[in-house]
Amino acid sequence: MGDITRVGVIGCGLMGAGITEVCARAGLDVVVIESSDDAAKAGTARLESSLNRAVERGKLDNAQEVLDRIRVVTDMEQLAERELVVEAIVEDEAAKTAVFRELDRIVTSPDAILASNTSSIPIMKLAVATSRPAQVMGIHFFNPVPVLKLVELVPSLLTAEETTERGRSFVQDQLGKNSIDCQDRAGFVVNMLLVPFILSAIRMMESGFATPEDIDQGLVLGAAHPQGPLALADLIGLDTIKAIAESLYDEFKEPLYASPPLLERMVSAGLLGRKTGRGFYTYAK
Ligand code: NAI
Repeated sequence: MGDITRVGVIGCGLMGAGITEVCARAGLDVVVIESSDDAAKAGTARLESSLNRAVERGKLDNAQEVLDRIRVVTDMEQLAERELVVEAIVEDEAAKTAVFRELDRIVTSPDAILASNTSSIPIMKLAVATSRPAQVMGIHFFNPVPVLKLVELVPSLLTAEETTERGRSFVQDQLGKNSIDCQDRAGFVVNMLLVPFILSAIRMMESGFATPEDIDQGLVLGAAHPQGPLALADLIGLDTIKAIAESLYDEFKEPLYASPPLLERMVSAGLLGRKTGRGFYTYAK
């Protein structure tokens, strides 16, 4: 089997748009699925603005050339002939399982890889929603996808060796990313370490122990982190942090993974971080 040339991405939010961009910039043809016309428009605008920024920074010659390789549509049937599909919709197990059931019905290529960018939902749950669990794996990118080099490769107990190796070559040779291998456990390597750290920072702030600014400055200046945990939470999205914490708690039943009340309230209030203009900090739209 040669290189992958036809990719599908489901969801054109923060991550889906980033994954689409790196695939198209690597010369691949990408069909992106969104849930409504409005969301497709927003996804297209997200792609255009990121590509235009890349041009302004001298990292890309021609944004239009890349956009020409991308089609954002609402009809999932258009994924039929894709060789690899990466699902990047909201972190919701029922929604993702439904997508994998649909993918199994729609994607006709017999060797196609069905991948998820999930941060914390067991790959096995998605794999068994299909009739081809050997071809399902986690391919977990990091935000912002065009910038961060890491991808976690997550085979489930049922993933075929051939699928994992093809996924690895796609990520490393075609997209130019670095990969690490993780077992199919909630949080994989990075989030299992990072999310309890962010939750501790939220608890510290919630208890009045220190301000967000001081907590973040402490880690930036005292531990050489490029940004503090609360600024990072705003970047990732508080709804995503909450969903990952819940999956980790579900899996390991450890209090350190429990979502603090402040995080719950902020998510209920729609204060999701950068994407809504306000989280622990306020952002100009
Ligand atoms: P997001 O909320 O920015 O984007 C999700 C997109 O999926 C939205 O545009 C929504 O309209 C679309 N969508 C929802 N249901 C759909 C459906 N059935 N069909 C097609 N499109 C649908 O979320 P984000 O942050 O991009 O996260 C997506 C996935 O990536 C989640 O599984 C998350 O855990 C994972 N992830 C997130 C990271 C982050 O830093 N935010 C990092 C790595 C992984």
